Amino acid sequence: MNQTRTQAEATAVARLEVGGKNVELPVVVGSEGELGIDTQKLRQLTGAITLDPGFGNTGACQSAITFIDGEKGILRYRGYPIQQLAERATFLEVAWLLLEGDLPTKPQLETFAGEIRLHTMLHENFRRFFEALPKDAHPMPTTAAAVGALATFYQAKETDEQVRISVIRLLAKISTLVAYSYKHSIGQPFVYPRNDLDYSTNFLHMMFATPCEDYTVDPAVAKALDLLLILHADHEQNCSTSTVRLVGSSHANLFASVGAGISALWGPLHGGANQEVIEMLERIAVEDGNADRFVARAKDKGDNARLMGFGHRVYKSYDPRAAILKQTCQELRGRLGSGGKLLDIAFRLEELALSDEYFVSRNLYPNVDFYSGIIYQMIGIPVNMFTAMFVLGRMPGWIAHWLEMRKDPATRIGRPRQIYVGANERAYVPLSSRG
Ligand code: CMC
Repeated sequence: MNQTRTQAEATAVARLEVGGKNVELPVVVGSEGELGIDTQKLRQLTGAITLDPGFGNTGACQSAITFIDGEKGILRYRGYPIQQLAERATFLEVAWLLLEGDLPTKPQLETFAGEIRLHTMLHENFRRFFEALPKDAHPMPTTAAAVGALATFYQAKETDEQVRISVIRLLAKISTLVAYSYKHSIGQPFVYPRNDLDYSTNFLHMMFATPCEDYTVDPAVAKALDLLLILHADHEQNCSTSTVRLVGSSHANLFASVGAGISALWGPLHGGANQEVIEMLERIAVEDGNADRFVARAKDKGDNARLMGFGHRVYKSYDPRAAILKQTCQELRGRLGSGGKLLDIAFRLEELALSDEYFVSRNLYPNVDFYSGIIYQMIGIPVNMFTAMFVLGRMPGWIAHWLEMRKDPATRIGRPRQIYVGANERAYVPLSSRG
């Protein structure tokens, strides 16, 4: 146990006075010395609840998966710094780590990767599912609906073994579903998964090969994709993960819970930001590349423009994922020779914002989405697929949280309270008397 935790535990009680009543509430101490006041008995003891819109100060659970220190820019999966995983691990290794708690041994990883390969194919009826959707369907609602629809194909009673297979199926089939949603949107035939390829290479093959012409995936591109997936794999209690946990707390199955998480991720303030960043950079490029003017707009409270890819609820310093991706952008630009103009605009925006009092005083730094879109574009992923790529990466995190939540004896159905501010009791007025 570390020093911070020992000290904190010695004074592990919070004293509170509400409406003349003094209460003591237990303080929970995390393994990194984080403090949480346990308010489970607060209403029972005082009649009051806590009010925290956006949950900025509210912990919904205790979790052993991911640690973030937003002030110091630290991100660790199961204790491993993100920088080390990004440099040395593969996405499937990280997926195992998140799900199981430890890095896999070689045989464990081989068995895991082999099982995922065996489950990449979709039921043929899925063709008709895609055909029923409009040609220009955005891949996010398509993917959310497709993951929900998986629940109709796998309806066996929920046992430990059934859940284990659902986890493998979901990790395996999500790459096929995302690639199919893209193929559907451009009117090309679906390309079946190939079991001789690794996870990221197989995905890129399904995206870009056609039945008439094979597609050889550049290993550097597959490596860049693997890195992006690792960096997106988990981020503790963000909006979509909290959604997965909340839906799952009603004992909804894994597919239904994750389908809801995908919908939450779609929003422009969450996963949808990566698409918005590229659209913002392209707009600036078209309008003469003037980054200064856009920064001025983002600061203007009368203008609803925001500097997309900047700011974060948790990080109040540089997002460590953005730092890794910024470097990857530079390396890939050298290798692939693409991304030039937009990357220059992004660098300029960052430079301006980081020396501007508005952004500095609010601790607004680039987040993961600021540079990820540029890399997606460099490796040929179309803009409307960016958020679906986030789905691919976040899948192990969502699943790990769903499993942790279901196994935790402290889990209760998620049901926040509210402070009612509407009308007081009044009598019904018949329609004929309402004027
Ligand atoms: N551009 C301009 N001003 C901003 C920005 C921005 N990108 N982000 C925050 N602010 C301002 C905001 O107007 C507010 O100013 P004031 O104190 O004067 O009212 C202050 O900074 C605090 O912002 P907030 O909206 O209260 O912060 P939040 O924690 O509720 O929101 C956020 C976090 C990520 C939604 C927000 O920073 C934002 O909208 N950023 C742009 C969208 C984005 O990049 N989202 C991706 C997040 S990272 C990936 C993920 O986890 O999904």
